[in-house]
Amino acid sequence: MSEPVVWTSDGSPHSPRFNDRYRSRSGGVSQAASVFLAGCGLPRRWRGKTGFTVLETGFGLGLNFLTTWATWEADARRCDHLHFVSVEAYPVAAADIVRSARGPNTTGDADAPLLARVQALAQQLAGAWQDLSPGIHHLDFAEGRVQLTLAAGEVLPMLERLACEADAVYLDGFSPAVNPEMWSHATLQAMARHCRPGTTLATYTVAHSVREALEQIGFRVEKRQGLPPKRHRLEAVFLPADH
Ligand SMILES: C[S@@+](CC[C@H](N)C(=O)[O-])C[C@H]1O[C@@H](n2cnc3c(N)ncnc32)[C@H](O)[C@@H]1O
Repeated sequence: MSEPVVWTSDGSPHSPRFNDRYRSRSGGVSQAASVFLAGCGLPRRWRGKTGFTVLETGFGLGLNFLTTWATWEADARRCDHLHFVSVEAYPVAAADIVRSARGPNTTGDADAPLLARVQALAQQLAGAWQDLSPGIHHLDFAEGRVQLTLAAGEVLPMLERLACEADAVYLDGFSPAVNPEMWSHATLQAMARHCRPGTTLATYTVAHSVREALEQIGFRVEKRQGLPPKRHRLEAVFLPADH
């Protein structure tokens, strides 16, 4: 059975399991663009490359994936192949993915053409979204130039099982206060096994425990101005001492 999503009166998706919101009050596409893509140096960092891999913890309603795909598609200097790898223990229904992309709480100040593409791509994702039993699933889009690997299961064992080399990492697993499992030292360490020197990382949380764990693991971490109502967000680069 799909994970239930509760739609609040302002059109925001809410998780009853975690009692937390799926995205910023300022809009999910705006959050994806300003926290995750910009935080990882995208689209600039995929330019001139053959392939580029994003690793995400917490696929949720897929808005980060859809915004990354739409941004890649609109970029004349995009890499040839975009690989998006994401871990999700509680996949939602396809209808919720489509509803999520429609807004109204999706937009914030995201630009209209980007939003229109996100909505169109959500239909494609929903069409391919079936039988997400526990395990690793591969979905191809854009004639194979965009590949989604969805690891359906608990974050730690899935990160241990996945084989990928990430150029960028999005950490998006609800608030560390309500969901510490997604931000534990062991989880972040398992994530870092997929990184190489120069891999960039972004997240909306600036929780001290997360910053400290990332630094111990080999990330250089910086606080940046956040998307309101959050004051700050994090950007990091993997620069382990042994390289
Ligand atoms: C904030 S939402 C992600 C939003 C998403 N990135 C998007 O673009 O729509 C966090 C997600 O993490 C998932 N999650 C929470 N705890 C998890 C765990 N221990 N293992 C795997 N996924 C988990 C939740 O089910 C939820 O979908």
